[in-house]
Amino acid sequence: MAAGKGTRMKSRLPKVLHPLAGRALVHHVLATAAELGARNAVLITGHGAERVEAACGPAGGLASSLQLQCVRQEPQLGTGHAVQQAAPVLPDDGTVVVLSGDVPLTQAQTLRDLIALGGGDKLALLTLELENPAGYGRIVRDGGGDSAPVRAIVEQKDATPEQLSIREIYSGIMAVPARLLKTWLARLDNKNAQKEYYLTDIVKFAVADGVPVVAHRIQDAVQVAGVNSPVQLAELERAYQQRQATRLMEQGVRLSDPARIDVRGELQCGQDVAIDVNCVFEGSVQLGDDVRIGANCVIANVRIEAGAVIHPFTHIDGEKTGVTVGAGALIGPFARLRPGAQLGAEVHIGNFVEVKNSTLAKGAKANHLAYLGDATVGERVNYGAGSITANYDGAFKHRTVIEDDVHVGSNCVLVAPVTLGAGGTVGGGSTITKDTAPGALSVARGRQTTIAGWKRPKK
Ligand code: UD1
Ligand code: CA
Repeated sequence: MAAGKGTRMKSRLPKVLHPLAGRALVHHVLATAAELGARNAVLITGHGAERVEAACGPAGGLASSLQLQCVRQEPQLGTGHAVQQAAPVLPDDGTVVVLSGDVPLTQAQTLRDLIALGGGDKLALLTLELENPAGYGRIVRDGGGDSAPVRAIVEQKDATPEQLSIREIYSGIMAVPARLLKTWLARLDNKNAQKEYYLTDIVKFAVADGVPVVAHRIQDAVQVAGVNSPVQLAELERAYQQRQATRLMEQGVRLSDPARIDVRGELQCGQDVAIDVNCVFEGSVQLGDDVRIGANCVIANVRIEAGAVIHPFTHIDGEKTGVTVGAGALIGPFARLRPGAQLGAEVHIGNFVEVKNSTLAKGAKANHLAYLGDATVGERVNYGAGSITANYDGAFKHRTVIEDDVHVGSNCVLVAPVTLGAGGTVGGGSTITKDTAPGALSVARGRQTTIAGWKRPKK
């Protein structure tokens, strides 16, 4: 269900598209459905339907094996009415799991347990006990006992004072045999305090039909917590990040402060990885054994091999192309690696050095204030401070090839396409427009002249 308005977000963006850990809320839910191996998924949209559907379509960046179908619910007349819109496209056999697009952190295993409890012929509800159950539907049991059979779910606004004291609540998640769901949906009405079609009314029908209603009561509130406001979104983000941090530490990763790491994607770590404070990891990141990440780095879509050190304030984003950092490389502080940067073992990239779409072979160094774009750099090359590849002529990109053991002096401009021959040296301040000979010194700048006895102007 993803048709609701999300008024309290006070945003133009439909609620279910707000990101948690870098991914839309609804993407989390669909990913869980995919993890369950659901035969198909039906997304019920309403408010902002076009945007939600586009975000969940093939172009929305949702990598999933899930067969997804969208149905519209307009107007939105309640959760029962929402599921009624999906009924025509649901198969008659199997189990339907009802999920909310704004409840992102339910674990697949919890749902597997719920489905197993339902056993294909019972109505299974995911419930939990809350200190403060205000606002939620209450689980009403026979005689009120803790494990007595479930009779009904009563919504807050329809509950008697006695029912309001019940602390077991309905999470909004259920597993229900498709065949039964369809018959029950047809019987819903909106004779209640909110004049809505309540999906929760099907519990009464199950009881009347002699279908057992079972509750899977969990302890972990985060798994059923919904997002209604920016405050709740931030709370869930922290809960999620805390779990990521715990998971990493359980694998042996050393975090300087588990409260100051953000993983917005997938972070895989080898042994003895250490991560300092305030680092953000996005997309797919792999860190090899003994990798160290300094404070305040943003690291996305990269493979960093064993023993490499990323010094503070480094920004790496391989985007779709990826970046690789070789074993034992030293990067930063204040380095920037862009898509297609492929750094070999023991490469050094220092402060204010930008590398894009370039390959640097083993031991190459660019330590200060430099740009390497569309370049192929050989082993042991030393690339001087302030030097740049002029790789763009305004229309096309061209390559620069710097062969093994070249020394490029400071403040050089290498106008691509150009090749610097192996072992050569380029004098500082040169603008190189022609290939240079191997082993030679190439200088391309105005000669220094001396004007003796020169008098500076005086006032
Ligand atoms: C619902 C349950 C309540 C439960 C609570 C858990 C009903 C009647 N009540 O409450 O027992 O404790 O969830 O959070 O089901 N939606 C639609 N179309 C609609 C209405 C809602 O798609 O017409 C979607 C919303 O976008 C949301 C989900 O359904 O994703 C739940 O809606 P919400 O209004 O939050 O549920 P409640 O009625 O408050
Ligand atoms: Ca509501």
